[in-house]
Amino acid sequence: MNKKTIRDIDLQGKRALVRVDFNVPLDKATGQITDDTRIRAAVPTIQYLLEHGASVVLMSHLGRPKKQADDKLRLDPVGHRLQELLGRPVQKINTTTSPEAEATAHALKPGDVLLLENTRFDPREEQNDPGLSEDLARLGDVYVNDAFGAAHRAHASTEGVAHYLPAVAGLLMEAELAALGGALDHPERPFVTIIGGAKISDKINVIENLLTKVDALLIGGGMANTFLLAQGYQLGDSLVEPESVDMAKSLIDNAHTNGKHLLLPVDAIIADAFAPDANTNIVSVNTVPQGWRILDIGPETIKHYKAALAGAKTVIWNGPMGVFEMPAFAEGTRAIAQALADLQTKATTIIGGGDSVAAVEQMGLADKMSHISTGGGASLELLEGKELPGVAALQDK
Ligand code: 3PG
Repeated sequence: MNKKTIRDIDLQGKRALVRVDFNVPLDKATGQITDDTRIRAAVPTIQYLLEHGASVVLMSHLGRPKKQADDKLRLDPVGHRLQELLGRPVQKINTTTSPEAEATAHALKPGDVLLLENTRFDPREEQNDPGLSEDLARLGDVYVNDAFGAAHRAHASTEGVAHYLPAVAGLLMEAELAALGGALDHPERPFVTIIGGAKISDKINVIENLLTKVDALLIGGGMANTFLLAQGYQLGDSLVEPESVDMAKSLIDNAHTNGKHLLLPVDAIIADAFAPDANTNIVSVNTVPQGWRILDIGPETIKHYKAALAGAKTVIWNGPMGVFEMPAFAEGTRAIAQALADLQTKATTIIGGGDSVAAVEQMGLADKMSHISTGGGASLELLEGKELPGVAALQDK
């Protein structure tokens, strides 16, 4: 990575204003954090800063409040969890920028940790308002962006403020960019990617970009259906996006022309309803009867995909192969997760955010992967080949 990190600057006696992504899932009824992965992922950066003589002022968004304070989206539960993880006090205040925030930040001593309120309570945050960026900049001596998950947003706390302070990456940001960016820019080959999920329209740019880089691209999930439709198959009541058929055709042609292997399902698990207890059957993808829909890849496809993965040296996976939330349609996703786990020590395996992360964790295979991204939208934008504004604004090495 060509950006400076916290390892490149003097931190002694400095106030580090740190953007983290503490946008964690909360239980609707109790407000409790249901998955603290993102908080745990920020701990090494915070600890590094504290160990090197800095005090730390943390800022994050949580959820999508309507540009005003929302008691359900205050960062207090996050502060409590962080305090447990750090084993030291975390002071939380109820404002993001205010005379109180400034006074509290300026009173911090090396080793102190302050957590500001949800940045999205201020309507200026998402407008990337320079006034807010300046207000935020007064809370620190240096700016650290460790919020990989929010780096695709050009907001005041993720981008704007970086123009008012010396701005560097945190350790999580560095690790995410090294894993995903490294795999995309100089992969060890064969480089295989697996792209799934419900809709092709969400991932057209990802597939287009990956086809310029990979040796093989495996497609699964609902989005595979539109590729199959483009080949003239009858897909019964399967989810398809007719408006994307031409694009699917041109992606298939593009793969052909450039000698890339674009693998599509050859068989599928079909169901007579979108329901966990639906009747199911295994069929070839060109024989899906009316009234039935494809909800997972089938056993032949799994065999082909496993074979394509077997010799891979770099693998990126984004998006499930079927409706894995329902056990009857989870086998394709489970088999891919297992195939990646089997590559442990043999290949670099990267799980690129979102539902595939949930699947790998649910299947207890997370510790067998080389890297699991904390970013959903951010990792997709990297896979699309886009520059992330939160990264672009940091100082070059
Ligand atoms: C995420 O959860 O992907 C990030 O925290 C960004 O959140 P957002 O999509 O609400 O900007």
